[in-house]
Formats: sequence, C-alpha cells, structure tokens
Amino acid sequence: MSQNLHPLAAALDETLEACPSAAFSLLSRKGRAIYFPSKGILGQSAQAKGSALNATIGTAFEEDGTPMRLPSVMEDMPLGPKALLYAPSWGRPELRKRWQEMEVEKNPSLRGKSFSLPVATCALTHGVSVAGHLFLDEGDQVILPDLYWDNYELVLGHAYGAELVTFNTFKDGGYDVDALLEKVNAPGEKKVILLNFPNNPTGYTPTVAEAEAIQKGLLKAAQSGKKIAVLIDDAYFGLVYREGVEKESLFARLVDLHENVLAVKLDGATKEDYVWGLRVGFVAFGGKGLTPEALKALEAKAAGVVRCTISNASNPAQLNLLKAFTSPTYAAEKAEKYATLRARHDKIVSIFAAHPEYRESFEPMPFNSGYFMCVKPVGVEAEAVRQELNANFSTGTIVLSGLIRLAFSAVRLEDLEKLFANIDAAVRKLRGA
Ligand SMILES: Cc1ncc(COP(=O)(O)O)c(C=O)c1O
Repeated sequence: MSQNLHPLAAALDETLEACPSAAFSLLSRKGRAIYFPSKGILGQSAQAKGSALNATIGTAFEEDGTPMRLPSVMEDMPLGPKALLYAPSWGRPELRKRWQEMEVEKNPSLRGKSFSLPVATCALTHGVSVAGHLFLDEGDQVILPDLYWDNYELVLGHAYGAELVTFNTFKDGGYDVDALLEKVNAPGEKKVILLNFPNNPTGYTPTVAEAEAIQKGLLKAAQSGKKIAVLIDDAYFGLVYREGVEKESLFARLVDLHENVLAVKLDGATKEDYVWGLRVGFVAFGGKGLTPEALKALEAKAAGVVRCTISNASNPAQLNLLKAFTSPTYAAEKAEKYATLRARHDKIVSIFAAHPEYRESFEPMPFNSGYFMCVKPVGVEAEAVRQELNANFSTGTIVLSGLIRLAFSAVRLEDLEKLFANIDAAVRKLRGA
C-alpha cells in the first residue's frame, strides 16, 4: 500500500480488508487511495449546520438568510431557491433512500438482502466512470460482450487505461453464456465483468434460464478462486417486453452469491424515467461477506470519487426526481410509457411475421427489451446501408459492429412499417436486386 495513503483511506481499507468479502482485493490503486474528505470543508460545514452564524461553505445568502439568487434565473426554477444550493456528494439523503426502496420494489428478490445505499452520480456514464476509478488499473481487463455501448471505450478504455476484452454475444438465437464464462475462467485471479441488460445496442436481456446459468457459472468461478467484480449497467431497467425473460437486475442474483463476487449496480433515472438531460444516476454495492461497515466504506469511496470528479450531482434534478418518485401518479405514468414502448416492440415482431421476405435483406438479431434492436444486412455492408438510408430514404440509423441499430424508442408506432420497408428497399437497391 502507498506510504502516502490518507488516514481516512487507510481506515476505509482496513474495514474492507477485515471483512470476508474480496472487495478490498478488487479495488484499483486509486480505489484503495480514495476516501471521502469528511474532515475538510464538507465535514466542517456539516458540523456547523444550524449555527446562528454560518461562515462555512462557498454558497451565498441574501440578507434575509435565503439563498442568493438572480430573478432571471428564478423565472424558470419552480423548485424555488433551495434548488440552487449544492446537493451532498453522496446525493440527497431522502432521494438515496427512496431510490434504494425502489430498487427493492423493482427487484423483489432483493428484499431482505443487504446492499449499500446508492450514491448519486451524474447519471450512468459517470456511474460507469466511478466504477472504473474504483476497480480498474491501467492495463486491467474488462470482460464484456462484443455488442456493447461504444462509450465504454472512452469511459473505461481511454480514461482508466482498461483493456476491453469481448466475448461472443449471441449463440443459436440466445445469450452466449459459455463465451462469457470462458473469459471469466481464463487465467488471472481478478476479473472485472461489465454486463448491461437490457443491452445497448441489441435490446436483449437474458432469459430466466440464461440468467440462472450466468449466476451458476459465476458462483463456480468464484468457488475456484476467481475474484470477480460484476459491474451491472441497468440503464434500461424495467423495459422487458416478453415472458420468460429475466425481469430483475442481475444484481439481485449476485449480492449474496459468494465472498469472491462483488456486485456493483449502476442505474439511474435517465432512460427508465425518460429524463436524459437531468443527469442523475446511482452506484450501489452488494456482495456476500460485506459487513454494514464495509458497505459504508464502499459508499464513502464512491462519494470520494464523486467529490473528486463532479463534486455533486445536480440538486434541481435530484429534487425534481424525488418529487416524481413520491407522486401518487408516478406508477401509472410509468406504466403508460412502458406500454407505448412495448407496443412498438410488439409491432416490430408482427412486421417481421408479416414480411418473411425481409429475411432476404436483413437478419434481425435477438431482442426482447429496452430501446433498441439490431438487424444484420444480407450481402451488403451495414455502413453502406446506413448511408443509403440517410441519403435516399430520409432514414437515420446507427451502425455498430457491422449491425444496424434501430432505436425504436424514438420511432412512432405508425412509422415502424415504413422504417423496415425502407431498410429492405435500401438493401435490395444496393445489391442491385
Ligand atoms: C448501456 C448504457 N449505459 C449508460 C448510458 C449512459 O447513460 P446516461 O445518459 O445516464 O449517462 C447509456 C446511454 O446511452 C447506455 O446506453
């Protein structure tokens, strides 16, 4: 351990090292060194809270004691002046508590299991970055499927020097669990895995049987001595449209699996609650053998990373979401949006059933959830199809790993027929058929 380790970091590390979980040995050098500066400006300010005279933190107050503010700013700030103040680096306590309750409501098998309070991040991208900071040293490998969200390359590869090691995503129309486990069981004790369900770009979530197979395989690997951090990107959580598909987060299966498995849940409101620009996400930890003190230590480390990167996530956004999450109409509103997206998914399924000839132009990849699905053009490059669609069909798509990704989340139900007809026509045109 570094001689320059801050005493607060040393105390957190001691707590983690003393517990039966492998969490400490999974931390990166930076992860071991990070701490929450509870004795600095933030800690001293917290101690002075409620003082008659408060000359602590760098915020400004009017002569009447309310937050200093510009009328032009307040014109569009219905949450009032309190929204202008900082949120804690950990996130607003009542929001963290509510989000944790919601995690249990959405994942009933988490009930009664212990996991940390979520720490608020600047949405999922930052959550992934916090996990990179805590668990990845330069040159460390991250195991992930070959169909992945491309920003992992910047967030984990560029920023932390991690090497992205991919496994085959699909086999025989399902998830290639064996390919994942092969990478996990390859030489090396420390393994960091990144799994994202519903997946971007494929819109695939494992079936219940596949999720069980992942769980069993990870248990076996852990029993054989592998120390495994599983980063679970739940960005599109809750948007599962078919029976037999796993509805809960993999986190619920892993939080009490084995002392050698640390589960890191990265989730947030962005996609689930249709608030892409609000920028509120969360990171939470769970794992067999993590004592309540060890969970707190991981929270403190995550909050330390938040403090050293963005200081704190947006307070107006956190206030807004807390209000929504406690609204009596929230559940019904979410059900309505889910139904809208599900209808689009179902429509795509029915379009494929009605147009068997489309199979001559493109092969749909397995999909059952989320915002996206992918098709693989037959006999022509995906990029050529994308350009043709753009140039001559007024149709925008994304090409990733040789596939065309379609965000049906962004296409009206009534336009879906046209979308696939255009792809079919573009492929046939390019092939000269
Ligand atoms: C799989 C996945 N993770 C994370 C993110 C980032 O989400 P956020 O906007 O909350 O940072 C995205 C956004 O596209 C995503 O697809």
